[in-house]
Amino acid sequence: MTSPLTVVGGGIIGLSIAWRCAQRGLDVAVYDEGRDDGAWYAAAGMLAAAGETAFGQEALSALLLESSKRWAGFAAGLGSLGYDRTGALDVALTSDDLASARRMWGYRDGPQPLASSELRDLEPALSPRVRGGALLPGDHQVDPRRVVAALRSALGDAVQPRRVDTIPDGPVVIAAGIGTAALTGLPVRPVKGLVLRLRAEPGLLRHVINGYVDGRHVYVVPRADGDIIVGATEEERADLTVTAGAVLELLRSATDLVPDLAEAELTETVVRHRPGTPDNAPLLGRWRTDVIVAAGHHRNGVLLAPITADLIADLVVTGRPDPLLDAFAPGRFA
Ligand code: GLY
Repeated sequence: MTSPLTVVGGGIIGLSIAWRCAQRGLDVAVYDEGRDDGAWYAAAGMLAAAGETAFGQEALSALLLESSKRWAGFAAGLGSLGYDRTGALDVALTSDDLASARRMWGYRDGPQPLASSELRDLEPALSPRVRGGALLPGDHQVDPRRVVAALRSALGDAVQPRRVDTIPDGPVVIAAGIGTAALTGLPVRPVKGLVLRLRAEPGLLRHVINGYVDGRHVYVVPRADGDIIVGATEEERADLTVTAGAVLELLRSATDLVPDLAEAELTETVVRHRPGTPDNAPLLGRWRTDVIVAAGHHRNGVLLAPITADLIADLVVTGRPDPLLDAFAPGRFA
C-alpha cells in the first residue's frame, strides 16, 4: 500500500493509527465528523488487561496484555494524558461476590488477593461491609479525552471534518466504530454504555475499583483532580437515553462500595455506544485490496489503541500482516 492514506474515523483508534502512520512518513488524512460521538468520549480509560479478561477469549486476552505493555511508550510520545500506574483493586461486597471474583482471579494475570482490612488500608473510603478483593498491579488508567485531544493536536490539519457515506478510493483504513457497519456491511453493533462523572475531594480514592456488588459489576475510576467516573451499563440498545433506572443502579452499586460518593457532585451523565462484534473481539486487518479495517473494539478501545496502531501501521507500510492479527480477521464471520 502506498501513501496518501485515508483513515475514516477520528476516534481513539483512527487517530492512533493515523499518528503512527504519520510518524512512519506517510501522508495521512483522517476524515471525521467531529461530533465526539465515539465510545472514547464516555470511556473511563481503564487499561484493564486483567480486569477485562473474559473466559474463553485467549487471543483477545493476549492482545490486551501486549497492548497494556505498550501504553507507557505510547503515552510518552503524547505528553500529559493522566496516565496513572497506581493499579486497580477488585473489590467484592458479599461472600457470593467474593466467590465470583475468585473464579476470575484463577484466569487473570497477577491478582494479589487481599483481606477486607488490607483493602481498607489501601483505600480507607471503602465500606467496612466489603468482604475481600485483590490488587491488580498491572491495570492502569488514562484520560481518553486527553488522549484524543493530544492525538488531534499531533495530527493538526490532517484531521478533516468530513462526513463519509461510502468508502473513499485509494488506500484506506476504516476505523469508524459502529459506523463501520454502514460502510462495509461488517457485523459491528452498538452496545449502549452509560457512565456518570462525579466530583469529589481529590484523594478520596487512588486506585481504579472494579466492584462486584450483589451480582452486579461497577467500576469507579478516580482522577487526580477529584473527578470520578462511575460505569458502566452494557445494554444491547441503539438509543442514547439516560434512564433513571440505569443511573440509580450505578449509583447504588458505587455507594455500596464507597459510601462517601453519596456526597459527591454529579457533574455529567454520558451515553455512547461500544462497537461490538459477534465474538466481541475487534476486526483488525486487510478486508479488501485497498481497504484495511480496525473496528469493533467493544470494551477495550482505549487499552487496545497502542497495539492496534502499531499492527495496522506495520500492515500499511510493509503490506505484511503480523501473526498477532490472525485471530482478528475482519472477514471471519462471513
Ligand atoms: N471498558 C469498560 C467499559 O467498556 O465499560
